[in-house]
Amino acid sequence: MSTPPTQRRTCDFLVIGTGIAGLFAALKAARHGDVTIVTKSTAEECNTRYAQGGIACVMEAGDSFDAHLADTLNAGAGLCHEDVVRDIVSAGPARIQELVDLGLHFTRRGEVAEAPDAQDAEAYDLGREGGHTRRRILHSGDITGQEVAKVLLQRCRENPRITILENHIAVDLLSTRHTRWQDENWCLGAYVMDKATHAIRTIISRVTILATGGAGKVYLYTTNPDVATGDGVAMAYRAYAEIADMEFFQFHPTCLYHPNTKPFLISEAVRGEGAVLKVRRKGEFVEFMQDYHPMASLAPRDIVARAIDNELKRTGEACAYLDIRHKDEAFLKRRFPNIFAQLKKLGINMTKDLIPVVPAAHYCCGGVRTDIAGRTTVHGLYAVGEVGCTGLHGANRLASNSLLEALVTAHNAVEDAAARAGDTAPVPADSVPDWNPGDASDSDEQVVITHNWQEIRRFMWDYVGIVRTNKRLERAKNRIRLIRNEIEKYYWDSILTPDLVELRNLASVAEMIIDCAVARRESRGLHYNADYPMKNQPPAKDTLLRRPTRAVIWNE
Ligand code: SIN
Repeated sequence: MSTPPTQRRTCDFLVIGTGIAGLFAALKAARHGDVTIVTKSTAEECNTRYAQGGIACVMEAGDSFDAHLADTLNAGAGLCHEDVVRDIVSAGPARIQELVDLGLHFTRRGEVAEAPDAQDAEAYDLGREGGHTRRRILHSGDITGQEVAKVLLQRCRENPRITILENHIAVDLLSTRHTRWQDENWCLGAYVMDKATHAIRTIISRVTILATGGAGKVYLYTTNPDVATGDGVAMAYRAYAEIADMEFFQFHPTCLYHPNTKPFLISEAVRGEGAVLKVRRKGEFVEFMQDYHPMASLAPRDIVARAIDNELKRTGEACAYLDIRHKDEAFLKRRFPNIFAQLKKLGINMTKDLIPVVPAAHYCCGGVRTDIAGRTTVHGLYAVGEVGCTGLHGANRLASNSLLEALVTAHNAVEDAAARAGDTAPVPADSVPDWNPGDASDSDEQVVITHNWQEIRRFMWDYVGIVRTNKRLERAKNRIRLIRNEIEKYYWDSILTPDLVELRNLASVAEMIIDCAVARRESRGLHYNADYPMKNQPPAKDTLLRRPTRAVIWNE
């Protein structure tokens, strides 16, 4: 097979990814210029779609920005950037109003409560999740992410200034430093592969917004969809952007444990409505979270996931259980229609049965280092949503803060880019070369991809999971070095395929997680190393990765 020809495209804004952050940014950017969105699957498929819980936001007089700030800082284990947290939580109500104006319906109390009075019925029904001391989670039933993504995508599809290229995977960012044109590093767009033809297009843009979501596929068990391969973090690193805090990977405590289904999240909101965690000890189902934290089953996620892991290791049981049998069926069907129906299909009735659950990789708290406007360390490159690391989450994300962060940073990124419309890269667009496949030939060994894919996910789960040790991390480090070398060689020798692009990204992200985990010689938030069970004394520091040294450096 010969290498397919390239096609060039130029736009004002290139948005990579179609989750909440990408679509919200695209809608805003369309006010300032033409926008091209690329997504490697259909536009509907993204991490946002699977977010059940909702969006944390201060909406009622009984709540306050200070309380939301305090809960976020408490969950973040000393590593949140307080100024960022304050800015994001206080910008929440304005962004939520914009979603409502775009047509999003958040559930009202009248749709859930038994017999609310007329005024109460109109108020938003606010959920509660782990680590929150108040009810403050806006939700659309129990499929919030799906509803948000649907409305935003509809608005984007209606907008004549937005073009959506589906089934196009970004291969690499175009950066001036990468090509050694300039000392100052500018992003000029991206090389993007059309998955149908494997043609690699050069897309030149004034502003590039990474909104590629998470990297859950780096672990064997994850709540994330197949698209979550860490592409944005890997590409940004290759383009010399700084990456921060990759050791903090959040495991959701309650993923359904069932042999006959794809991973399915049992939202933390179920615990917010009174479900308690239990484990089987000597044949009895007993509560255990009170032994670990005063908030018991509603403790911050890192604590709950670690407690379940510990209980399962102690008892030798395969899963823990959620018990919400004390709630009546009508309420559960109104509040959790999707979860109720999915469980019912599998023969689990929430009012009669315990729900078997296990922790699974869920959210990457680290990412491309940015400021509150999503600005990375590369000019013209923004990272918004899960791919970015603003400092909001610190060492452990507070539940449902991520969709809020995505909205706020997407808005801020476009405002910032618009204010800098006069800044342009000191390189003419027509001097950017098209993709050069070099001497690559057809890849003839698909087994290289499948083997390495499985091996990475397995050892990351076993060695770099909820509880880490120096020895496990050392083993993981040795393995990832070998695999990375093999993949790099294969990558440059072979004509690119989408699978190879994803595998290379996945391996790169795995290596970043391991390197940061090895460097952090303490236990903090989501990073627990049994050889260093205590927190270091303040000040807490972020891990930073910067090309070309690969060494982890510390940032206060
Ligand atoms: C959940 O519904 O439990 C997930 C929400 C989140 O990850 O913030």
